[in-house]
Amino acid sequence: MNLLALLGSPRAGGNTDTLAAEVLKGAEEAGATVETVALRRLDLKPCTGCEQCWHNDRPCVLRDGMESVYEAIAAADALLFVTPVYWYGPTTLLKTMLDRFVVFNRPQGRPLIDGKPAAVVVAYEEEGPEAAEPLLRMFELSFAYLGMPFVERLVVDGVGPKGAVLERPEALASAREMGKRLGLL
Ligand SMILES: Cc1cc2nc3c(=O)[nH]c(=O)nc-3n(C[C@H](O)[C@H](O)[C@H](O)COP(=O)(O)O)c2cc1C
Repeated sequence: MNLLALLGSPRAGGNTDTLAAEVLKGAEEAGATVETVALRRLDLKPCTGCEQCWHNDRPCVLRDGMESVYEAIAAADALLFVTPVYWYGPTTLLKTMLDRFVVFNRPQGRPLIDGKPAAVVVAYEEEGPEAAEPLLRMFELSFAYLGMPFVERLVVDGVGPKGAVLERPEALASAREMGKRLGLL
């Protein structure tokens, strides 16, 4: 079982990075192999909608950091999408990556993603569930479209400043437990 975490925050060592690290520790404890891709370290160009991926065998005409992300996703058994709420949606980094999933939507790409379990880690500053709802709906619809079962979600509200989640032992414990379940998939 190979779990790939796709970190969407531009803030290194922030709340979502911390939660994702706990998820991965739990997955390792359950016997999984884990890999992390911090999207902030990559040069990611936006999908231009050129549709060339539909008409040739190369995955995408853009030459950038997504080449390694495509390879990592193809090799993974399950994907962990990690992002803070930014204006009620994902970060630009996470959304830029997701836009490039057009490659997985074409017939030749479908087998690389179809049926692959997806899990989500989301954190944000406001209190209550409402601020995360549009983002979670985006994930639900996108995973359903791609044929990815949405198996787990960890949603942590009330964490704003970097490090705030370290004061939330119950959230860290939930992350660890979620990781253990993912590691047993
Ligand atoms: C550009 C930007 C937009 C944000 N938008 C929201 C928001 O709409 N709702 C909210 O509750 N928090 C918002 N936040 C706060 C972050 O979600 C919060 O600080 C989160 O813990 C950051 O996670 P990170 O440390 O992993 O980067 C925003 C932060 C930034 C920098």
